Amino acid sequence: MPLPAASPTMSAPEFQGLRDFIYAKTGIFFNESKQYFLENRLQRRLGDLKLRTYREYLDLVQGGAGREELKQLFIEITTNETSFWRNPPQIEAFQRVVLPEAVKLARDRGATKFRIWSAACSSGEEPYTLAMVCAEAKDGPLKGLQVEILATDISERVLAQAKQAVYGSYTLRNLSPAQLQRHFTQQGPDQFEAKPELRQMVGFRNVNLVDYPAYRSLGTFDIIFCRNVLIYFDDAVKRKVLQGFHEQLAPRGYLLVGHSESIHAFNTGFELMHFSKAMGYRKRG
Ligand SMILES: C[S@@+](CC[C@H](N)C(=O)[O-])C[C@H]1O[C@@H](n2cnc3c(N)ncnc32)[C@H](O)[C@@H]1O
Repeated sequence: MPLPAASPTMSAPEFQGLRDFIYAKTGIFFNESKQYFLENRLQRRLGDLKLRTYREYLDLVQGGAGREELKQLFIEITTNETSFWRNPPQIEAFQRVVLPEAVKLARDRGATKFRIWSAACSSGEEPYTLAMVCAEAKDGPLKGLQVEILATDISERVLAQAKQAVYGSYTLRNLSPAQLQRHFTQQGPDQFEAKPELRQMVGFRNVNLVDYPAYRSLGTFDIIFCRNVLIYFDDAVKRKVLQGFHEQLAPRGYLLVGHSESIHAFNTGFELMHFSKAMGYRKRG
């Protein structure tokens, strides 16, 4: 959409200043081709805050008074596309192979809790998908184990949506009618609320993936899902994120990334696992 005539234009130095600031705060790197995207996303903030230039906006978020605006900046610049049962072959591999194997390891360690981290969970479709699979395994592999799914994201807006747990049919399109009926209550013509059985398994928290020391406060996980966010990071950030995941995974724990995200180039202590039509990684023994 073209900018209205009165809208400020982002200069090259303003773009570079904002890009470097955003990279330092989030790990998300915008190359030159993304200037229009950034201008478009931040234009409304300038209007709401009655600022005249992007330089003034940068000064605001860089200053102590800009802490609240920083949250808004994260909301504006992130891409939150997601859906239930996204990448079905990988979810099926989780259901058939990863979950039973990881549960066995947890039981062998004498664990009473089984913990999964959905890192960069967006509006909740991914963690609730994992909760559906766990709910269906509660009388099977997971019998007697308490399941805890920690879902984190940098955007307060998507976390608020996730906590509401109400979804429309488009994002639920990959679910079978039986799954929809078992796990959701219809509230309106196109509104489906996740049932308490799913909701009580999932906890939400705002975690910025470049805040590496914060990882430790999250504890140890049997499985980490981090899908479709590494693509926004450069190699230096990817390497540190993967190192953090490695530290938080239980011995031989699993890491599942997006289908276009290979972590092969980073000698991170993970081995590649091949499943039917999907891949994953496992912490080396
Ligand atoms: C495309 S969505 C992926 C959602 C889900 N994992 C999936 O695959 O469907 C990417 C998410 O990463 C989050 N994100 C981006 N940078 C982040 C960071 N530094 N820390 C935590 N989350 C971040 C965004 O807010 C967004 O919700």
